[in-house]
Amino acid sequence: MNTLILLIIQAMWFILPAYIANPTPVLLKGTHPIDLGKKFRDGNPILGKGKTWEGLLGGTITGGLIGLIQGQLWHTYSLEIYGLTEMTMGLGIVLGFGALFGDLLGSFIKRRYNVKRGEQFPILDQLDFIIGAYFITSFVIDIKFDWILIWVIVTPAIHKTANYIAYKLKLKDVPW
Ligand code: CTP
Ligand code: MG
Repeated sequence: MNTLILLIIQAMWFILPAYIANPTPVLLKGTHPIDLGKKFRDGNPILGKGKTWEGLLGGTITGGLIGLIQGQLWHTYSLEIYGLTEMTMGLGIVLGFGALFGDLLGSFIKRRYNVKRGEQFPILDQLDFIIGAYFITSFVIDIKFDWILIWVIVTPAIHKTANYIAYKLKLKDVPW
């Protein structure tokens, strides 16, 4: 197979638990805000009511499940990454948690810029979960720069499409 195509497939296969974990909270309709409804010193919510414990936990567990399933399906990383030959449940948990952690960070930044819950914040809305997944996962493994580059290029397009579909299916109130 063409090396570039293989590289893209491997990069996307690796990040899949984060991709699936990221939108999971929308379905859970959590009711317990992580910031406990508290405000920051600027008067805005710390994170906002859109960031719940149910979402964080559900996304993390979903990441683990996806990692577990992937590990049974296809072994691909051999020779590419030190010692890593397959996706695992542990890696899935780390990727899922990282994605939701990045999402929290994104909301924290949005609130500091007076951007209300659900309002758009270009680039951050699309990439916060990738940045979080990369940051948290880099404590566990050394992620190749090629992969990061691929994620950053490919993600905004997929994110926009997925959100538009979720909006059409009435899973989300806004198409972003
Ligand atoms: N969600 C959740 N817990 C999380 C993340 C998301 O319950 N940790 C749910 C919320 O119902 C949220 C929805 O998933 O409204 C969509 O997530 P997202 O687009 O990240 O949140 P927004 O509501 O757009 O809020 P923000 O402006 O802070 O991004
Ligand atoms: Mg949003």
